[in-house]
Amino acid sequence: MILNLLKKELKDISCQSLIVFTKSSAGKDRLATIANSDLSKKYASLLEEKTISGKALEAVTIREANFGGFRNLIFIGLGEDKDLDQEGLRQAAAAAYDALKALKVKEAIISFDGVKGTTKEAPSFVKALAEGLTLASYSFDQLKSKKAKVTTAKAKSDEESEGQKLQIHVVSRAAQEKSVKAAFQEGIITAECVNFARYLGDMPGNLMTPKILAEEAQKAAQGTKIKVTVWDKNRIIKEKMGGLLGVSLGSSEEPRFIIMEYKGGKTHQKPLIFVGKGLTFDSGGISIKPSAGMEEMKFDMCGGANVIGTMLAAARLKLDVNLIGLVPSTENMPGPSANKPGDVCFARNGKSFEVNNTDAEGRLILADALSYASEQDPGMIIDAATLTGAMVVALGNIHTGYFTRDKELKTSIEKAAKISGELVWNMPLTDQHLKDMKGTYADLSNMSAGKGAGSATATAFLEQFVGEGIPWAHFDIAGTGWAVGNRLNYCTKKGASGVMLRTFVELAKSYE
Ligand code: BES
Ligand code: ZN
Ligand code: ZN
Repeated sequence: MILNLLKKELKDISCQSLIVFTKSSAGKDRLATIANSDLSKKYASLLEEKTISGKALEAVTIREANFGGFRNLIFIGLGEDKDLDQEGLRQAAAAAYDALKALKVKEAIISFDGVKGTTKEAPSFVKALAEGLTLASYSFDQLKSKKAKVTTAKAKSDEESEGQKLQIHVVSRAAQEKSVKAAFQEGIITAECVNFARYLGDMPGNLMTPKILAEEAQKAAQGTKIKVTVWDKNRIIKEKMGGLLGVSLGSSEEPRFIIMEYKGGKTHQKPLIFVGKGLTFDSGGISIKPSAGMEEMKFDMCGGANVIGTMLAAARLKLDVNLIGLVPSTENMPGPSANKPGDVCFARNGKSFEVNNTDAEGRLILADALSYASEQDPGMIIDAATLTGAMVVALGNIHTGYFTRDKELKTSIEKAAKISGELVWNMPLTDQHLKDMKGTYADLSNMSAGKGAGSATATAFLEQFVGEGIPWAHFDIAGTGWAVGNRLNYCTKKGASGVMLRTFVELAKSYE
């Protein structure tokens, strides 16, 4: 998809199709983004009968409408004006994208003015529009072999036009305003990075091993100011990362520790460090998982993928902050050298733990990454991980649960998530949770002694590897990392969502 922003009058444009946003506000002109009495008159009956009702996500396509220079018209509902926020527009944009796909057109105009009243809000809304379109344009089909070769000239030209990219031009009177232009670009860049993170997540385990994940991070960082360093197995051993190493031992694939550094801020600014769980496949190891649904465990690296995407977005947006992205990456397999229940490992910070369930592996690799992060004199540490099934039970695929004991950080997270439109929920973390994680033979156990609160006890384990006084938050994306398309129309049904990346970019933007 090619997406651009233009300052043009609709009457001066001819194009295959025009998207008109509509609102359901009673008494007002329902054609929100195009004050055109001809159009209102032409579709008076449809407006009256409420075929075009303006309710949120409604899509009414009128083929061959031949209105002005436009062949087809697509009316997309925004709902009530007073309820419309950026997330509403993001979803409306995705509905518009789907309608264009269904219509099989290759070029469209979206009329933006009138979406939301004041010019003060124009940048954030135009950003949401760009995000919604770009996010909706993501698909993962590169592993399907091409359709059988076509021989006839007709079929060939169809195929060529199939291959032609969809072009969407957003037109607005404010298109040349600096803040609007910048916000539009920011929306595209952020969403492109989400799409890249989704691609990393959607790739199956055999094609997205720790080694490949590290290479992808290196390739993607080329041409940016990000410096990528990758530690291999030998280096991981030398660096005393006993958690990451232990988890990797059951696999024939070597682990990797990926370090991405971006210095956009002042030299003395302490870095904000993002850490992401990069389990490229989690079979459970010796404590093996049931077969049903195990294929989904290719997504166990989504925290890592979303951290890589966050770093890329920050660099492409040229944020003036110092950031580090860390991704411990490995498979969790039951090979002959695998961790066994009862084994004891030492993490980088010297603390020992019993591996009483080899399926609770995420916390072991994060232990080393958090220890390493704490050594870098960070101003803040944020991690994302598909850590516990218990989080799926608690919050489903609606909210991402996050844990922090830092009140200021909690406020920043709530603010950032409000801007990004990603739903988060603050979860409890207390000293009580740690009590359940004490080891019998080692300092800690990777399994809780109690039954409930599995996400919080896992977090209490992680906290043991974060340096004193460092503001830290942990995001458990087990429920929201993939398969959220049933709720969010700009996400695919089954695939990776890229969740938290947009919030993390907002956190980086507000970091001082
Ligand atoms: N990767 C899983 C967590 C997970 C489960 C994510 C389901 C998404 C959906 C993690 O490594 C794991 O298996 N955790 C165990 C921990 C338990 C053994 C203490 C779990 O949650 O069952
Ligand atoms: Zn596991
Ligand atoms: Zn896992």
